Amino acid sequence: MEAAALPWTEQERKTLPRHVAIIMDGNGRWAEIQGKHRWEGHAYGAKSVRDVVTAAREAGIEALTLYAFSVQNWGRPHFEVEKLMALLLDYLVEEQQTILDNGIRLQGIGQIDRLPPGVREQLRTLEEASAECRDMVLTLALSYGSREEIVAACQQIAKDAAAGRIPPEHIDEALLDRYMLTRDLPPLDLLIRTSGEMRLSNFLLWQAAYAELVVTDVLWPDFDRDHLYQCMDVFRGRQRRFGKTGAQVSNQET
Ligand code: FPP
Repeated sequence: MEAAALPWTEQERKTLPRHVAIIMDGNGRWAEIQGKHRWEGHAYGAKSVRDVVTAAREAGIEALTLYAFSVQNWGRPHFEVEKLMALLLDYLVEEQQTILDNGIRLQGIGQIDRLPPGVREQLRTLEEASAECRDMVLTLALSYGSREEIVAACQQIAKDAAAGRIPPEHIDEALLDRYMLTRDLPPLDLLIRTSGEMRLSNFLLWQAAYAELVVTDVLWPDFDRDHLYQCMDVFRGRQRRFGKTGAQVSNQET
């Protein structure tokens, strides 16, 4: 894919995040401001998804993870949930060719069994069709909850330990990582939230331990390629210390 329009030099691109996740928030407020129905905010939000996926791929991001629907979102009005599921299905159908043409592997994480059969089937179709794509992983968190993910991981670890497959003393951070739904992804570097809310909302709680957080006031339907690149520039300006001192990190001391 042509990357000519990128705002970074080849050298600067090496300092970009490998894995970016986004809490796509503010669709409802955007619709309200425009005098539209909430679901129209989601429809415009789906357009932002298309733009941001393309922009992330062009920037050479390895993994993009989008919070599209939480476990808790099932509690929204039936009409809104139906509209969201319809938008999701449209996205999976309409973007299939673009996703494949751009070497993107698509996967869903979350309680996928709870999705309507049509969405589930299209998701599986695209997961299988894109399984060998290597240029970027696009993960859609669907009916996803981080606490639910952690509980499920603990249950599986307990079962494996009880069956003698893992000695309890082998349970460490690396092992827990392998029981998370994000096990195939690089560590999370940058977590963006749109619409100014300062919350994680049950998204990637384990994975975000050392991620850089960037909250922008831009509402998701207005969020575009330039906004994504601005957030990535904020990331580039941060010093990641991982518990060390600033001096240790800048001097590369151990
Ligand atoms: C949060 O905004 C957004 C959601 C719950 C849904 C996100 C869905 C999309 C962006 C579109 C469909 C997804 C794909 C992948 C095609 P909100 O409704 O909570 O906004 P508010 O806080 O302003 O009410």
